[in-house]
This record gives sequence, structure tokens and C-alpha cells, in this order.
Amino acid sequence: MSIIKFPNDFEFGTATAAYQIEGAWNEDGKGENIWDRFTHVPGHIQDKTNGDIACDFYHRYKEDIRLAKKLGIEVFRLSVNWARILPDGQGEVNLAGIEFYRNVLREIRENNMKVCLTIYHWDLPQKLQDKGGWANRDIVKWYTDYAEILFREYGNDVDYWITINEPYCIAFLGYWTGEHAPGLHDYSTALQAVHHLLLAHGAAVKKFRSCNLSSEIGITLNMGMACPENADDGKDVEAARRSVMAGNCLFGDPVYLGRYPEELFEFLDKKGVVLPEIREGDMELINQKVDFFGLNTYTAGTIKYDASQWPLETGSVGSGRERTEAGWEVWPEKFYELLSWIDNRYGHPAIIITENGAANNDWVDSQGKVVDSNRIEYLKRYLKEVSRAVDNGISVKGYYVWCFTDNFEWAYGEARRFGIVYVDYKSQKRIPKESAKWFSDVIKEKGFEIKE
Ligand code: FCB
Repeated sequence: MSIIKFPNDFEFGTATAAYQIEGAWNEDGKGENIWDRFTHVPGHIQDKTNGDIACDFYHRYKEDIRLAKKLGIEVFRLSVNWARILPDGQGEVNLAGIEFYRNVLREIRENNMKVCLTIYHWDLPQKLQDKGGWANRDIVKWYTDYAEILFREYGNDVDYWITINEPYCIAFLGYWTGEHAPGLHDYSTALQAVHHLLLAHGAAVKKFRSCNLSSEIGITLNMGMACPENADDGKDVEAARRSVMAGNCLFGDPVYLGRYPEELFEFLDKKGVVLPEIREGDMELINQKVDFFGLNTYTAGTIKYDASQWPLETGSVGSGRERTEAGWEVWPEKFYELLSWIDNRYGHPAIIITENGAANNDWVDSQGKVVDSNRIEYLKRYLKEVSRAVDNGISVKGYYVWCFTDNFEWAYGEARRFGIVYVDYKSQKRIPKESAKWFSDVIKEKGFEIKE
């Protein structure tokens, strides 16, 4: 048995996102967003559910926030639904939307938790998508104007601002594989969207600095390490490197180093991808000083060379490890490797793990309990690596579990449960799972015991 201990000022939290929990999709003046549109088209969501009601957080936020407090959560991460604030994405402000988030943020603070607020977690107003969405460079201004409203309205109610959650998924799942809204299929457009997402991030940070707020700001990037399937095969080794460049460096390098990975762009250019239009001053705008590196990570990849996979020619294979219900391999050692890779490559930034967690096949037993031992095991193994990183001088400041309550898991719908609190979608009853009780003790003790 060994004891894992975290420093006293290490912050434990939980994360959520607006579309996944709020519901109230057409109430109080909210405009339509791309996920409202996307989920209402048959065939897009595996279990045919949508976020119209989700966890009904819009009406039940007090109950949820008080439950989080009861469990001892220190930081409550949530996001703002852009079309609640600006139904058309720009122009007229919806006062009911402003009021809603003001009440939510106050409730969190009155319950003595810190607030981590994501400005954009995937729910673009449909009216802006109709103008091209992230593929249209005008979005840099649309987004910055929207962010400025939030800075002005909620400047004193937020501790950590996240400009954008996972630009990788927004661009590549939304504009290339089409698994996510808006469901498009063009790689070059996706790459152009990456550039606009990063520009929007930089412009918002610049705007934030001009507001002189005392809170901190950063971006959340999803990253993972990749191993070649066959370490003796040069093509596999190169493919794994390319996968890290396309998944990690494409985002981290411009934000922290002010440049795109040139080798990756040369490769894509040869494959016929149209490279993004980069104007003078763009890289400086993206390369703003940020206060923390928001990291989302769940698994790691095993990559082989696969000529049929245009344009990257990378194929993903299993490594035989245990998998969570999301089908993602449990590979905690790679979490440590990733933290140390970020630390090295980006000059020892302060890191907040803004998401990590496991989907599990949870059900309520005859005693009314949800015994999610696999999730506890996952969290233990991953947190152990976080603690190893902290002990070795990597500056990890906080860790947020994805997710607080079960919620609408994008293309998979309600079928994938990630919460530490169970939601019965019919009755909207909440039941803290065993993992919630375990996590609550971890927070109290700033540590836990693990069998080695
Ligand atoms: C991340 C998303 C989050 C959730 C988890 C499981 O990619 O940021 O909204 O869906 O995955």
C-alpha cells in the first residue's frame, strides 16, 4: 500500500459543459445553436437522444451546485452557451441569458467554490454557422465581442477563464470527420478553422488583458501521447510522430511558441491539403501570454502507418490494454509522459488538468447505490501519475474530473455515463456514485491510498 499525497494548495474540481447539461434549449430567448440543429437530424446521435432537456441544469443548478459543495468540490468548471447570451451570435444581447449565468456563478461562489468558466465549449450559434462558422475569418471578431461581454458582466465572478475547449475536436470532428456539429467533411476547411480558433483565442486573451481583471486565463487543449505499433518499423515511428504533431503540436506550438509545426505543414501540402491562410501579425496574436495550460486527456494511442488514411496516413490500433466504456484504453503511464512532454516543450507552464475521467456502465443496485469501482480504479491510477508529476517538479496546479453529473455525451447521447453523480434522466434524480464519495475523501485528505 502506498500513500499518494498532493500539496495543500492543489485544487480538485469537476467539469461540465453547457450543451451537455443545461437543456432548456429554446427557453427565455435563447437562440438555436449548431448542436440543437445537429441533434435534431435523425442518424446523428447513436442512441437517438438530444440535449433538449439533458440534466435540466437550467432549472436545477442550485440543487447541483449545492451537491457539489456537499461533496467538497473546490473548483466548479462550466461553460456558457453563446446563443443564450447572443441569440444570433452577435448583435442584440439576451438579458435573461446574462441573468441566468450571473445567478449560477453567484450560487457557486456563495457555496465557496472557485469558478472555472469556459467561454466556448462547442455550441456555436446556428446563425454564425450559416455564415461559415469557424471557417469564416470574421468569427475572430464575433467571438471576441462575445467574450468581451462575459469579461464585462462576470469579471468579478470567475477565477479561471478558458477561451476555447479542445479546438482539435471543434475543427476535425466538426469539419472533417463530421461526427460532431456542424457535420462537415473537408480537411482543408478544418485546418483553416484551426487557425481561426487559435486567432480567436489570442484575440480574446488580448481583450481580457485590457480589462484588467485579477482572474487567470488559458486555453484547454486535448492531447495524448502516441506509440508506434512496431518500434522497428521506420514508417510506424514516423506515423506516430506525425500523429503527435497533428494532435498536440498543431495547437500547443502556435499558442506557446508562436509557430505551426512546419514539418507537418510540408507533409500535408504534399498530400494536397490547402494550408491555412496566415496573415501578417497572426502568429503574434495567437502567441499571447497565458496564465495556465488547460489539459484534457483520457487515453493514449498506438499508431501504425496506413497509406489509405488520407491525409495523415496514420492508423490507430489497440495495444491490448483494458478499456473504459468509451472504448478508450486505460494507459496512465502515458499521462505522466504527456505532462512531462508539455513541461519540456512549452517551458514549464502552470498546468490545470481541466478534464480526465472514465465512461462506465453504471446502474443503480437494489440498495439504491451506484458502485462504479472501475471508475475509482481509473481515477486512482491517473491521479497517481499526476502526483508523480508534481513530485518531480512539473507545475500541475489542479485536477478536474470529467464529469460532475452524467450528461449528454455528444454523438453518443445519454448512453455514455462519465459522471461521478448518476442522473436518472426520467426522474432527473441525482445519486452520488461511490466514486463521488471516494473523490470527496481524496479532496478532504488531499490524497489517497493505493495498492501497488
Ligand atoms: C471531451 C469533451 C467533453 C466530454 C469528454 C468526454 O473531449 O471536452 O465535453 O465530452 O470529452
